[in-house]
Amino acid sequence: MLRRISESEAFGFAPTVSRQPSDRVCLAGIGVEIPSASISNEELVETFNRWVDTENIRRKGRGDEPLPKSSADFIRQASGIRRRHVYEREGILDPARMAPVIPARSDDDLSVMAEFGLKAAQKALAQAKVAPGEIDLIICSAAHHQRPYPAIAIEIQQALGAEGAAFDIGLGCSSALAGLHVATNLVRAGAYRRVLVVTPELITAHLNFRDRQTHFIFGDAAVAVLVETMEPGRERHGRLEVVDTRVWTQFSNNIRTNFGFLSRLAQDDPYHLDMEGKLIKQVGSKVFKEVTIASHQFIIDFLAEYGHTPRTMRRFWLHQANARMNAMILKLALGEEVGQDRAPTVLERLGNTAAAGAIIALAENHEDMQQGEFGLLCAFGAGYSIGGALLKMM
Ligand SMILES: CC(C)(COP(=O)(O)OP(=O)(O)OC[C@H]1O[C@@H](n2cnc3c(N)ncnc32)[C@H](O)[C@@H]1OP(=O)(O)O)[C@@H](O)C(=O)NCCC(=O)NCCS
Repeated sequence: MLRRISESEAFGFAPTVSRQPSDRVCLAGIGVEIPSASISNEELVETFNRWVDTENIRRKGRGDEPLPKSSADFIRQASGIRRRHVYEREGILDPARMAPVIPARSDDDLSVMAEFGLKAAQKALAQAKVAPGEIDLIICSAAHHQRPYPAIAIEIQQALGAEGAAFDIGLGCSSALAGLHVATNLVRAGAYRRVLVVTPELITAHLNFRDRQTHFIFGDAAVAVLVETMEPGRERHGRLEVVDTRVWTQFSNNIRTNFGFLSRLAQDDPYHLDMEGKLIKQVGSKVFKEVTIASHQFIIDFLAEYGHTPRTMRRFWLHQANARMNAMILKLALGEEVGQDRAPTVLERLGNTAAAGAIIALAENHEDMQQGEFGLLCAFGAGYSIGGALLKMM
């Protein structure tokens, strides 16, 4: 007798596996992909200032105020950043271009953002010793997505050889934490056993290298975190348990991009995109003050829910935007200055890698933790948004 084929079999859907809610969730693997090319403050400032010289000749001719120059010393002192790694160096240091050269790819080729995320995803899976076929869901969570659809996560899913489902989300520099928040709760609820959160940050592609306020801030990096239910037998030292996650948001225009499909309609020629005013902009000093205060309160409140205080945290993996800002948040929280061991920074060599930064600090600085020690992963940025994850070393 012929067996009746179900619709899901006909379309090749993965069979539905009944799942149980899980109290315990862990980070089974973390992957980090950092491009090899880098640019120092001095190189970046030299290009900026050469462009300013040329621009000021034009401005003088028009009777406009001259533009001020940038300074490598200012950048280091104000932010702590010394250099940044970039997906593509070519073009950024050319005063006539000041943007990376990233050629268009055919729709049939793997897109740039998916390829970047894929590298981090493969590293996370290798670390977790998990095969792509064992992932149930992929969330691509980044500050900037290359396009609205098809979702970058679905392209990563296909390139990886995973099944299940995939979708994109974004929450500025808190994107990875927002992804972790969603993933953790879906795994806890029993909807999925394993969720891969991929955060490819190709932020130099959206950066205005002619804006003195922001030209030095960002660098590129991709990260991926595999969140899985903690099954008996997979509890092993070196893995971090996710005790809980939180996300906080409050609207602010102080970090904003106006890039989007409606932008072109405000132009005389809607078929020729003028990028002026549609790249990242920020009022850095306001962000600094307001987000420092909000992050401090977030940390105190979130930890208090679990009977913790900043003092009971062995380590803080904070957003990597500004070394002074992190120092201030921690001084408010702990009443004293803390060093690299307690709150490691990676921004000196990588710049602000948007949502990837805190995860890189985590990836590079957790293996020495003792069993039972706690740490706080916390990112903040555009929105305003703050995301946190209380982690415990198993
Ligand atoms: C961007 C940031 C490093 C700027 O530092 P800051 O100390 O706030 O600097 P300000 O914008 O107040 O400017 C201070 C002075 O430096 C000058 N300045 C600004 N950019 C400069 C540059 N590239 N080179 C030289 N001088 C510069 C300003 O003109 C100003 O000069 P003035 O005092 O004569 O008016 C800092 O505000 C910051 O990191 N903010 C938080 C960013 C953040 O967390 N973002 C989160 C999401 S990614």
